[in-house]
Amino acid sequence: MKMKMVAMLLVVLLAMAPLGHGIIDQSPEGVERWFRRLPHAKEKLTKLHFFFQDVVSGKTPTAIEVARSSLTSSSKTFFGLTRVFDDPLTVTGSPDSHRIGYGQGIYSLTSQEDVALLFTFNFVFTDGKYNGSTLSIQGYNPLEAKYREMAVVGGSGVFRLARGSAVASTYWANATTQDGIVEFTVYVLHYDVGGNDGDEQYVQDM
Ligand SMILES: *[C@@H]1O[C@H](CO)[C@@H](O)[C@H](O)[C@H]1NC(C)=O
Ligand SMILES: *[C@@H]1O[C@H](CO)[C@@H](O)[C@H](O)[C@H]1NC(C)=O
Repeated sequence: MKMKMVAMLLVVLLAMAPLGHGIIDQSPEGVERWFRRLPHAKEKLTKLHFFFQDVVSGKTPTAIEVARSSLTSSSKTFFGLTRVFDDPLTVTGSPDSHRIGYGQGIYSLTSQEDVALLFTFNFVFTDGKYNGSTLSIQGYNPLEAKYREMAVVGGSGVFRLARGSAVASTYWANATTQDGIVEFTVYVLHYDVGGNDGDEQYVQDM
């Protein structure tokens, strides 16, 4: 009888235990459990702040050209140029600072008037409590503007059902090489369905 109760308690405890630091259960069963708990979850606002390292030049670029039109070269706004990127995300502006993930996606120069980009990409987090979670971003990025706001259109893992705003600002850029470092401040509404919060320095619970 006692053994049976201990065994049952163990099963309950194991079911409640987190799957490891930063890892969220993304099996169909895990996702279903999450959605069943959702009516009892609290929506919360999280602020993330990090830097996006876009290297176009040199032997190890992180952004590579995959398309351009016959008009691109004669266009003053590089109209039609398209790059696929896998850019490191770092906690400070220094490329050598701690890496917390990658910005992975596509940008195209989509304006004939301004140097403005359509960005469609994911923030893929690889650090701490967000390891394995993503945020999907879509938006308009006119490079001349001091602040460019793009939409957080969704997410996965910790950021399941997320929405919010990602504000980009140029931290450093070289017009010759087209390399750039972009500062991102991201405001995300998402759900707290339990579990511990970490103490990552680029995160602020609000
Ligand atoms: C992130 O998770 C992967 C497994 O999905 C693991 O191999 C890796 O060590 C984790 N990284 C950190 C920094 O926790
Ligand atoms: C930009 O890059 C070019 C080519 O590498 C270099 O000569 C120049 O000094 C750089 N300018 C700045 C402001 O870093």
